[in-house]
Amino acid sequence: MFYHRSVRPVLFSLDPECAHHLSIRLLRAAGWTPAILRWISGSGRLPGSRPVRIADLTFKHPVGLAAGFDKNALALPAWEALGFSFVEAGTITAQAQPGNDKPRIFRVPEDEALINRLGFNNDGAGQIAARLERLGRSGRRPGIPVGLNIGKSKAVPLEQAIEDYIFSMKKLYAYADYFTINVSSPNTPGLRELQGREALSPLLKNLRELNYDLAVKFSNPSPKPIFVKIAPDLAPAQLDEIIGTVQDCKLTGIVATNTTTDKSSLKDPKWHSEAGGVSGRPLAKRSTEFIRAISQRTGGRMPVIGVGGIFTQDDLREKLDAGATLVQVYTGFVYRGPRLVRELLEGQKS
Ligand SMILES: Cc1cc2nc3c(=O)[nH]c(=O)nc-3n(C[C@H](O)[C@H](O)[C@H](O)COP(=O)(O)O)c2cc1C
Repeated sequence: MFYHRSVRPVLFSLDPECAHHLSIRLLRAAGWTPAILRWISGSGRLPGSRPVRIADLTFKHPVGLAAGFDKNALALPAWEALGFSFVEAGTITAQAQPGNDKPRIFRVPEDEALINRLGFNNDGAGQIAARLERLGRSGRRPGIPVGLNIGKSKAVPLEQAIEDYIFSMKKLYAYADYFTINVSSPNTPGLRELQGREALSPLLKNLRELNYDLAVKFSNPSPKPIFVKIAPDLAPAQLDEIIGTVQDCKLTGIVATNTTTDKSSLKDPKWHSEAGGVSGRPLAKRSTEFIRAISQRTGGRMPVIGVGGIFTQDDLREKLDAGATLVQVYTGFVYRGPRLVRELLEGQKS
């Protein structure tokens, strides 16, 4: 209630990207103050937490933070305090880059949606690796799994994408509990072409080999889980092909889904021609269909991180019933606020 009555009106009176930076700044500052972290996390256990295991990782419950909110891994301790069971930082690219021209995030409150065309604005793999190193040394790395989502630098042509992803994975390897390979943002020209088998298969095979090599180098008992994040705008045959490629390359699973370029369901036609990807409520049904399709086609054997339009306990239940192993939220957090994780879990059976 406090968020709805007092905080959200202030944040929503600001430009969406300013509101986002302000939130990240506050959460980052909170991360330095144990008393504030304790205050944020409230007292006692989260309701109805049921642990989830994937490979060697344990998640206290299924709800994590989606990629894009903390692109530069600035506020990791705060996400744990807010109750998230894992956080996916990024998308991180090999080269630091400013992203697209502003304005590039738009609120569409009547649809409980956002449109964004940020274009992977981030500090780059080197700087973020150094930040994560410092975080670990200071003893403030959160106890929850931290996934790192990597993408292609805009300045790098598609033909050199493999080297670009390899660079990022090498730089960041020591700091990731799992990786997500992002080939589905609509805001980096050509990126989604990497979802086709001809491009995806060599990319994933190279990253898988690197994962094994680096696990040996770092004396890790096993390679790290790797997920592939896909678009909700794929045709069924393309989805089948990706599932097959992920299985052939023996990667861990799929994050379904990224934002959609389909704006036809937005109530106000003025948004239909706005460039960027839509997240939030309009994406919910479509992402659930993708989760269900992946689950059915793999006999429930492939872990799926379900993401798209989770605002309520019913939304969460739908994703889990469709076959999601874990879920992530972004837009729901913007509209519902910091109590979202707790509210979602209150409806869960433990
Ligand atoms: C402003 C914004 C920025 C995003 N940036 C990224 C990103 O950098 N990498 C990525 O994989 N997904 C990114 N996403 C997509 C989200 O991770 C998520 O897949 C999508 O928003 C659907 O979830 P939601 O409906 O809960 O927001 C972004 C989404 C938003 C709204």
